[in-house]
Amino acid sequence: MARKFFVGGNWKCNGTSEEVKKIVSTLNDAQVPSSDVVEVVVSPPFVFLPLVKSTLRPDFHVAAQNCWVKKGGAFTGEISAEMLVNLDIPWVILGHSERRSLLNESNEFVGDKVAYALSRGLKVIACVGETLEQREAGSTVEVVAAQTKAIAACVSNWADVVLAYEPVWAIGTGKVASPAQAQEVHYELRKWLQENTSPEVAATTRIIYGGSVNGANCKELAAKPDVDGFLVGGASLKPEFIDIIKSAE
Ligand code: G3P
Repeated sequence: MARKFFVGGNWKCNGTSEEVKKIVSTLNDAQVPSSDVVEVVVSPPFVFLPLVKSTLRPDFHVAAQNCWVKKGGAFTGEISAEMLVNLDIPWVILGHSERRSLLNESNEFVGDKVAYALSRGLKVIACVGETLEQREAGSTVEVVAAQTKAIAACVSNWADVVLAYEPVWAIGTGKVASPAQAQEVHYELRKWLQENTSPEVAATTRIIYGGSVNGANCKELAAKPDVDGFLVGGASLKPEFIDIIKSAE
């Protein structure tokens, strides 16, 4: 079953309106494969969502980097799924390891966020990944399976979910997972989906890799059978993001 390649750009907590306009202009001018070949979703900080949404080329899409776990209200500082829907923002990243660690987001809390975002009609990039300590202890598969289980408990329509494997030890470190390491975990995640959801979900769900992806290492990673794309951090703020999009070819 062919899975459309997916490239996400997670801009994290970066940018000024001038810098954002420059990035959008670079993206709008880029020659890239058609949207039949690759799905591109960029994720600016909340404050720039309207600007990016209104100026980005129509074949690229926009994601929020998070949203609250329930209907909006007395939750100071939070952004609700309803607000994203109101702004016509179709995607949201949930469960990023930086939020799991910095804000103590548990597997169950991430699952609840996924459930609520999907219930409001958002599509979700759901993140899983192990720490260096967990990898060195040999518990990588156990950890990402538990994270995926908590997400899967809340998903009825997998067509609206992309699973992102982001080993924590590769995020922002320059220590990208080897193609073999990425393929091994992606294979295990797809096997978990096969055994715990359905063969069809396993065959059709995009499993993307994140963690120090750049223009130089993306091609070899993209060549792996269970790597269906990327969630890119630092490099998504640079022109080399275009090269990463082109690795879909
Ligand atoms: O969400 C993607 C991000 O965590 C990867 O960051 O800078 O290692 O590409 P980076």
